[in-house]
Amino acid sequence: MQRTSVSQTIDQVEKNVTLYGWVNSYRDHGKLVFFDLRDYTGLLQIVVNPQVSQKAFEEAGKLSPEDVVKVSGLVKSRVEKYINPDLPTGKVEVEATEISLINKSTQTPFEIDADGRDVDELLRLKYRYLDLRRPRLNSNIRLRHQIIRHMRGFLDDRGFVEIETPILTKATPEGARDFLVPSRLQPGKFYALPQSPQQYKQLLMVAGFEKYYQIARCFRDEDPRADRCYGEFTQLDMEMSFVDQEELLNLTEALMIEITEKVVGKKVYKKPFPRFTYQEAMEKYGNDKFDIREEKDPDVLGFAWVLDFPLFEKTQTRALAPSHHPFTAPKNEDLGLLESDPLKVRSLQHDLVCNGYEVGGGSIRITDPKLQKKIFEILGHTSEEVQEKFGHLLKAFEYGVPPHGGIAPGIERLMMIFANEENTREVMAFPAISSGQVSVMDAPSKVDAGQLKELHLKTDL
Ligand code: AMO
Repeated sequence: MQRTSVSQTIDQVEKNVTLYGWVNSYRDHGKLVFFDLRDYTGLLQIVVNPQVSQKAFEEAGKLSPEDVVKVSGLVKSRVEKYINPDLPTGKVEVEATEISLINKSTQTPFEIDADGRDVDELLRLKYRYLDLRRPRLNSNIRLRHQIIRHMRGFLDDRGFVEIETPILTKATPEGARDFLVPSRLQPGKFYALPQSPQQYKQLLMVAGFEKYYQIARCFRDEDPRADRCYGEFTQLDMEMSFVDQEELLNLTEALMIEITEKVVGKKVYKKPFPRFTYQEAMEKYGNDKFDIREEKDPDVLGFAWVLDFPLFEKTQTRALAPSHHPFTAPKNEDLGLLESDPLKVRSLQHDLVCNGYEVGGGSIRITDPKLQKKIFEILGHTSEEVQEKFGHLLKAFEYGVPPHGGIAPGIERLMMIFANEENTREVMAFPAISSGQVSVMDAPSKVDAGQLKELHLKTDL
């Protein structure tokens, strides 16, 4: 099939082309019909003149928005006064010689040729495949692809290897509730979906890969907020061996600068990124997700690091909890306080903040099994629990574990900032809503009794 895409027409003036796509907007001027044709590369004006083709004109009369069509015609330059500066193809149009309707669309539940911000979100998510047709969403998802592509290239060039880790696994604590999946083969047992690949990436360091990354899906059952996806989200998960905190920060910083400037085309407010201790951040901004910019210009990104977090924090339910996760190393100089004054111990955690959001978090890890056991004890785990939950990691650390550390920038939070959006759902193809329902699909849903029986499960509903 000889097909010209919309964006190629700009270089095809006076040539005959055949285009395929959707009718975006339709204007009947009586003697002439105009419509914008939309394909994956953009929008293009089609002019249908009965003097050029009576048949095409009649066909065009039957069209309505969102119909799928084939259009053949001549690419023409527009006269100066009709140039549309808002469209990349605004200097040309196609004069149709032949139009055929490939597939008719019924009336869509909302307008597509608009930004969609005033449409009820539940309706948008129910018809997400239509919502994603709108240029705003479409370009967000395409930008996300470019960002991830660039992340991969940046790390590949530096010797990192992308490794997939299991989704059906055992709980890895990151402070949220787990999603559980019943096992059919081992009745009464459950997998947990990973809150992050934290333990696997540490095991990959024991395995000697030294530089790992993964565009990793993480699953956390926690209440959503504008900047917190419900259920699942994506991280650029990274880990390196024989690395100190300085090197990790510099590498992450170089990646963030490159993406912001080269891929997104925005400015970085301060280079190198300013660094604050947790205490300084609290004193100056009153929180650890602050905005260092004087003016809130969305095209300027104010990245900063927060360091020297307390290793532990007090919670309502337990005496002590890890501020980050239990694998984060304490600062050497504070080791002496571990038992006497644990809340004073600072850690080798590093958080990356940008424009008021925490966009990444990581740390140098504990690699001494004795210290790791002690931390679990301080966190209130019995030695049986430690063995049951983390025995595999402690065992692995007996076989020559390299010093290692890592970080995991959150893709959706970064994307929100890059794309000037206020909610992570605007940068995800099929997000879930706060009740846990998934876009388009009716999930979660009931399963039939046979499936439950096979899993040895009964519900009390
Ligand atoms: P942490 O839990 O801090 O660290 O997560 C890292 C980054 O992931 C993003 N993030 C989220 N984004 C959207 N929705 C959510 N529900 C959500 N939760 C987290 C944030 C956050 O900064 N294993 C460690 C990383 C490490 O130590 O290397 C971890 O997951 O941008």
